[in-house]
Parts: sequence; C-alpha cells; structure tokens
Amino acid sequence: MKVLGVETSCDETSAAVVRDGGEILSNVVSSQIALHRPYGGVVPELASRNHLRLIGSVIEEALAEAGISMEQIDAIAATYGPGLASSLLIGLNTAKGIAFATGKPFIGINHIEAHLYSPLLANTALDALPMVSLIVSGGHTILALATAIGEHDILGQTVDDAAGEAFDKVAKLLGLDYPGGPEVEKHAEQGNPAAIEFPRSMLHDGSYNFSFSGLKTAVLYFLRKNPQPHVENVCASFQEAVVDVLVGKTLRAAVQRRVKTVSAAGGVSVNGRFRKALTIGCADHGLQLLLAPPRLCTDNAAMIAALAYYKLQSGKRSDFSLEVAPSMGLGAGGIG
Ligand code: KG4
Ligand code: ZN
Repeated sequence: MKVLGVETSCDETSAAVVRDGGEILSNVVSSQIALHRPYGGVVPELASRNHLRLIGSVIEEALAEAGISMEQIDAIAATYGPGLASSLLIGLNTAKGIAFATGKPFIGINHIEAHLYSPLLANTALDALPMVSLIVSGGHTILALATAIGEHDILGQTVDDAAGEAFDKVAKLLGLDYPGGPEVEKHAEQGNPAAIEFPRSMLHDGSYNFSFSGLKTAVLYFLRKNPQPHVENVCASFQEAVVDVLVGKTLRAAVQRRVKTVSAAGGVSVNGRFRKALTIGCADHGLQLLLAPPRLCTDNAAMIAALAYYKLQSGKRSDFSLEVAPSMGLGAGGIG
C-alpha cells in the first residue's frame, strides 16, 4: 500500500510517499527557516501563506521522486494536530481535497504520535516493542511507553517549556540565530560542558516529568551577572544540563518499565551530544537504541504516511468533517 502523507503543522511544508509503512519512496521537505529567521521565530500568517504557495508543488515533487502518479496512490494522510491552526488547515484541506476528488481513503494523523513511531520507520524492528520513547521537539517533551504501534501510555512530560523551546530561548538570550537548537549545539562544540553548574530540574524527583523553565531562568541570571559571557561555555553547560535530564529520565524509565528498547525522536534528538550520551547510556544498561536519521527526526511527511499505513491497515479512516486540533496532546491513538 502506497500512502501519500502531507505535513504542514508548523514551518515545514512536506509531502512523502511511503510504501507499507516502512519504505520511503520520497520525502520532500521545504523548510521556511530562512523566511522566519529575521523575526526570531515562526510567524503564523507567513507560515500558512507559504504553505499555501508551496503545497501543490511539494506534493507534485513527492510523486515525481517516487516515480508514480496520483492514480497509483492508495490512500491520503495529513497531520491534523497539534500545531499552528492556520498552517494545519493548509495541509489538512489539501489532503481532504485530493481524497475527495480521487475517492481514495483519507486519514488524519496526530503529529506527536507520528514522531513517536518515526524511529521504527528507519529500523522497522517491530520486535523492538514494547519500547520507552522520548519525544523531544520544539513543542513537546514526552516520555511514553509504546506497546504496539498506536498503543502507548504517557509516562511523563514537561510541566512548562519543551526542551527545544529552551534551546530556542537560550539561543535568543545569547543573540544567536533561530532556530536555536542547531546554533547552541554548534557553539557548544567549542565549549566546556562543566564550566557552569546549571540546574538539572526534577532529575531525581522520582517522576518522569520534566521542567526546563528554571534552567532557562538560570541562564538568564547568569547572563545578567556576566554580561560578557564565554558563549561557547554557556552553550556547552546549558546543553549538558538538558542532555543529563533527558537521558537520565529516559534510561530510568526503560529500566523501571523493564523494556529492552529505547527510542528518541523530534527535533532535539538530532543533537549530537544527546545522541552520544543516550547511545552510551543504553549500551551501559544493555538496551537497544533506535534513533531515526536526522531528516526523520525533524518535521517530515514520511512519518505521517508511515503511521497512516498502520492505522489504515487496522481499518481506521477519518471523514471530511475532521477539523484541525491545534492543541491536542499525544492521546491514546490520535484518530479523528
Ligand atoms: O520536531 P521539530 O522539527 O518541530 C516540532 O515539532 O517542534 O523540532 C524543532 C525543535 C526546535 O526547538 C529546534 O531548536 C530543535 O528542535 N532542534 C535542536 C537541534 N536541531 C533542532 N535542538 C538541539 N540540538 C539540535 N541540533
Ligand atoms: Zn514536530
């Protein structure tokens, strides 16, 4: 089964064709980062206008790269939440329009749930389940226990800022470009992670929840006291604090829940220091680690098409009354 996936929840316009939930025939991602950079963050109206401008050609490119025509597509899937309402509307309505015109099955997909299962896309090790999965992006930091595709429980999540949001805010405090994650990582490479003792909030509180706003405030106070900071050391020390908490909580959840597999997904999981620390931690605990390649960690439509395949296989469909759900959570399945 070949599924056309469409993703426009934030600032990436993306379309992909995925066969049987695992074979990526194409995955076109048109990033708007350069468009939003002068504003230091995503401007919703600019994002939706740009999605509208690009969505047709991105879908055409995805079909061309896959070497197939729309007639050969078996089903259409689109992200319906969470995300920016005006951005979600473009992809969701385009997908509905295609499904209506062609009579093909249509399904709405939860963006966070697609991130959760995206490491399986690259590894297709379905015997990996149950797994403890960390979803760590600009909007979410969630630790979940997945027992089967589409069946998961939330173990914990952030009580304030998402980890990616903390990266972006700290970058802004330091006068670095948007998006902050890759910028902070680049500067951190030249810095000393032990230079400044930043807090590891909630690391030892026994819960699986996270908090990053205290860390952001600690960086703010440090910068007030040190107006000429060693930027590389601030970046490295901040990054180390985030990574310690993310990796510490994920490993503890895996051990306590007695799973043999750990996975991580979402934009922050691209971070090299995070990947290295999690790899070492998993090896130390005899855990199998599934990490998607970077282009499947950040927002992309391949993860939408892949998850859609499993939902469609189990008989699920959405109807055309499906609305965008900008603030939905991971939920227990995400079918509209
Ligand atoms: O998953 P994603 O592309 O979009 C959301 O669904 O949010 O994640 C974007 C987030 C941004 O906050 C960005 O700064 C962060 O992921 N990010 C990183 C890195 N690359 C992207 N954070 C830390 N290190 C990176 N290399
Ligand atoms: Zn995302």
